[in-house]
Amino acid sequence: MGKILSDTTPVPADPATETVPAGESAAIRAAAVLARGGLVAFPTETVYGLGADATSAAAVARLYAAKGRPSFNPLIAHVADLDAVRALARLEGDGLRLAQAFWPGPLTLVLPKAPACPVSDLATAGLDTVAVRIPAHPLAHAILAAFGRPVAAPSANISGHVSPTTAAHVAADLGGRIDLIVDGGPVAVGVESTIIACLGAPVMLRPGGLPRAEIERVLGHPLGDGAAARGPTERPAAPGLLASHYAPRASVRLEAASLAPGEALLAFGPQPLPGAEQAAKVLNLSPRGDLVEAASNLFGYLRALDGCGAASIAVMAVPRHGLGEAINDRLRRAAAPRDAADEEIEG
Ligand code: TXA
Ligand code: MG
Repeated sequence: MGKILSDTTPVPADPATETVPAGESAAIRAAAVLARGGLVAFPTETVYGLGADATSAAAVARLYAAKGRPSFNPLIAHVADLDAVRALARLEGDGLRLAQAFWPGPLTLVLPKAPACPVSDLATAGLDTVAVRIPAHPLAHAILAAFGRPVAAPSANISGHVSPTTAAHVAADLGGRIDLIVDGGPVAVGVESTIIACLGAPVMLRPGGLPRAEIERVLGHPLGDGAAARGPTERPAAPGLLASHYAPRASVRLEAASLAPGEALLAFGPQPLPGAEQAAKVLNLSPRGDLVEAASNLFGYLRALDGCGAASIAVMAVPRHGLGEAINDRLRRAAAPRDAADEEIEG
C-alpha cells in the first residue's frame, strides 16, 4: 500500500471530512462542495462513488490524489439525464437503445466524445471516448441535478482496495482526505456498473451490476467480450481493469472445497464446507444461494474477513450466471497475484 501512495502527489492536508445523513439539504450541500472544486463521496445503487467536478482539471487532480490513483486511468462521468449525456457524447444506434432500456441504472457506456464535450482531458485520460452513466440512486440523482455539471466518480476507496458499499467503508479509506461523505445507508447492488463500449459493435469491457443476458436481450444478439476484442499487445480495453484490482490484504483462495486451519471462509449457499467449524471467521454471501443478495454482500464481507486477521480467505464456488459473472470477476481479481507492475496501474 505504501507503494501505491508514494507514487502520487501528496494530498493537501484536509481539515476534516464531514459526514451528512441523506436528507433534504444533503444534495444542496454536496453540490456546493463540488462547485468549489471539492470532493464528495455519495451513494449510487452500485457502490459509493467519490465525486469531483468532471469539467475541472484541478478538481479531478485532487480526486486522483485522494484515491492514490494513477492519472492515466479514466473516470466515469455521471449525469442526471439523457440531455446531459448528449452534451458529452454521441449517443445513437445500439448505445441509444441500451441507454433507453437501462438508464438510470447500473450500466456505463463508453461513447465517442461530443465535439464540445466539457469533461476535462484529465478525467478521460486524453482518450477521444468518454464513459458515461446515469445512476439510479435517488440521492445520486439529486446531487447530479442540483450540481448541473458532469461528476467524475470512481469508487470511493483508496486505489486497489475493495469498493465501498457503506459510508463507513468510505470513511475508513478516505476520512481526512475528502471534504464530504453523504451517508445514504448500504447500497442495493454491491458491485460496480457493467461497462459496454459502443464504438462499433457493442463490447463488454467489465461485467457488473447489469447482467449480460439482459443486455443481450435488448441488443438481440450476443455481446462481444472486452478480453476477446483486444490483441495480446494492446492495452486493456477498460484501462482500469487490471488483474489485481479489488485486493484485500489477506490472500484469497478461490473455489475452495475444504478449509485449511486458520483460514477465514467466504461461503455461498446452504451446504457448509468441510472444516468450516474451525474457520477464523465465516461469512455467507447468501445462505439461500441468491446471487443478487451475494453481490450486495460481496465487498463488505471481503473487508470484514480481511479485518479478522486471517492470512488467507477461502472462497466457495459461486455460480456464473446473472450477477455471478460480475461476482466471479471481482473474486478473480481479489485472488490475483499482486506484482508491482499491477499495483502501479490499478484503479
Ligand atoms: O458502478 C460504478 O461504475 C462506480 C460508481 C461510483 O458509478 N464507478 C466505478 O468507477 O466503478 P471506476 O473508476 O472504479 O471504474 C471505471 C472504469 C475503469 O476500469 C476505467 O478504466 C473505465 O471505467 N473507463 C473509463 N473511461 C473509459 C474509456 N473512455 N474507455 C474505456 N474504459 C474506460
Ligand atoms: Mg474502482
